[in-house]
Amino acid sequence: MKLSDKLAAIEEDERVAAEPVRRRPNRAATDRTPDGLRDARRASGWQDKKRKVRDLVLSEVAPKMSGLTTEKIASEVRNALDRILEREDVRVSPSERRKFVQEVIQDTLGYGPLDPLLADVSITEVMCNAYDDIWVERDGKLSHTGAAFSDDIQYRHVIEKIVSAVGRRIDESSPMVDARLPDGSRVNAVIPPLAIHGSVLTIRKFAADPYTVKDLINFGTFTLDLSVVLEACVRGKLNVLVSGGTGTGKTTNLNVLSSFIPDGERILTIEDAAELQLQQPHVISLEARPANAEGAGEVKIRDLVRNALRMRPDRIIVGEVRGGEALDMLQAMNTGHEGSMTTVHSNSPRDALSRLETMVLMAGYDLPVRAIREQICSALNLIMHLDRMPDGRRIVTALTELQGMEGDTILLQDIFKYRTQPGDGRLDGELCATGLRPKFLDKLAEVGVEVPAKAFRPPAAAQNSSASAARLRTAKVPKISHLVRPESVR
Ligand SMILES: Nc1ncnc2c1ncn2[C@@H]1O[C@H](COP(=O)(O)OP(=O)(O)O)[C@@H](O)[C@H]1O
Ligand SMILES: [Mg+2]
Repeated sequence: MKLSDKLAAIEEDERVAAEPVRRRPNRAATDRTPDGLRDARRASGWQDKKRKVRDLVLSEVAPKMSGLTTEKIASEVRNALDRILEREDVRVSPSERRKFVQEVIQDTLGYGPLDPLLADVSITEVMCNAYDDIWVERDGKLSHTGAAFSDDIQYRHVIEKIVSAVGRRIDESSPMVDARLPDGSRVNAVIPPLAIHGSVLTIRKFAADPYTVKDLINFGTFTLDLSVVLEACVRGKLNVLVSGGTGTGKTTNLNVLSSFIPDGERILTIEDAAELQLQQPHVISLEARPANAEGAGEVKIRDLVRNALRMRPDRIIVGEVRGGEALDMLQAMNTGHEGSMTTVHSNSPRDALSRLETMVLMAGYDLPVRAIREQICSALNLIMHLDRMPDGRRIVTALTELQGMEGDTILLQDIFKYRTQPGDGRLDGELCATGLRPKFLDKLAEVGVEVPAKAFRPPAAAQNSSASAARLRTAKVPKISHLVRPESVR
């Protein structure tokens, strides 16, 4: 073969290899022309070559890797690659070689095709349904990416690498694992047989620059009035429960609420996977631990809450209550750790209460329901409920006060409520004060925290039933179009 033909063949291989991996199998399946079949064979040849070289490099480098710096590993990979290319019968052009080096380094040091997605700050979540089926969330909306692992084996390697880095393992006997990336992003992996169509990897990215109260006001999650009230409630040491469904922003809001805690206090945070990012100088963070492969060593949130009481906290912040720790948390709130906060998965403030009741029962004491409700009622002052709108926005839809017991029932009173006007869709609502004077104002006044009365002023609609006047007097929740970054607006 002439040299020019050889170069043309190498370039053709590269062109095929540069096509998105996702499209290639379909093409082979549908394009039965001689050209199509040749392209498919070339593509799989390139993949085979890449896999062979990658495996050889990894087997040389892996044993020496521990304790090396990133730069050292990168140079080890380059040297190993050179030796292997000389030794093995693998034909590569200079640009292929660069690509090999880059991909093998990505595989060795990073997470292959996930790296660019993890580096992209506009992406908040990465979801892999299969090695070649990767989705991301941006601005609360899902979209498919063209990114793909080269095969299922590489995909599983990356999952195992993530999981083993935090001392856990994933295999048939433990096919569902929570882990964390070194940057703090939360990872969940489920492999067959639990995941029926192949391994599933979900990464909730750690916000390098967490949302502040200003961001939440800009997003329309809070209004200015609500944030003034919330700041007073946190400073005045009310106990707050943040409630909402999965991904409605409970943890994000808990983080923002915690930002109102004054600097001088000793704050203890307890989480399943550390997500909170408090900025105060005196913060102790504890993280629960699942059992190891032998089923030993588990430390539950509940154990940590109990232990926390011996660590002289001023406030305890529990990332989320899911079980018996709810009882310990309520007891802590009732016994000198006012100003504590947590979140619960629920559909409404009332639902949050019944879930708490169930969780207290999970603590294993045979408590009468009335006693549990009294405990909840004397511990908690406020429930802040979040909803996720169909357009991806997260909105506080209720700020509800627990006002006491009436018979066996806890009295709930909405202080702020997300309201829609008759004839408007759910998306066009407004978060407004109900106009009722909260009882907690007395408690706040006792500790010297004042809230301007105008923060609780209801929209005009409640007074003169004029819908248009109401719209003028209340802060309108901005639409998602106001939130889109300028560069993404065409
Ligand atoms: N107010 C908000 N507006 C837009 N996105 C938000 C808001 N709050 C949270 N998010 C995003 O939603 C996702 C889920 O938030 P998170 O607080 O972890 O929810 P939860 O704790 O309810 O599961 C994250 O990617 C976060 O960045
Ligand atoms: Mg959460």
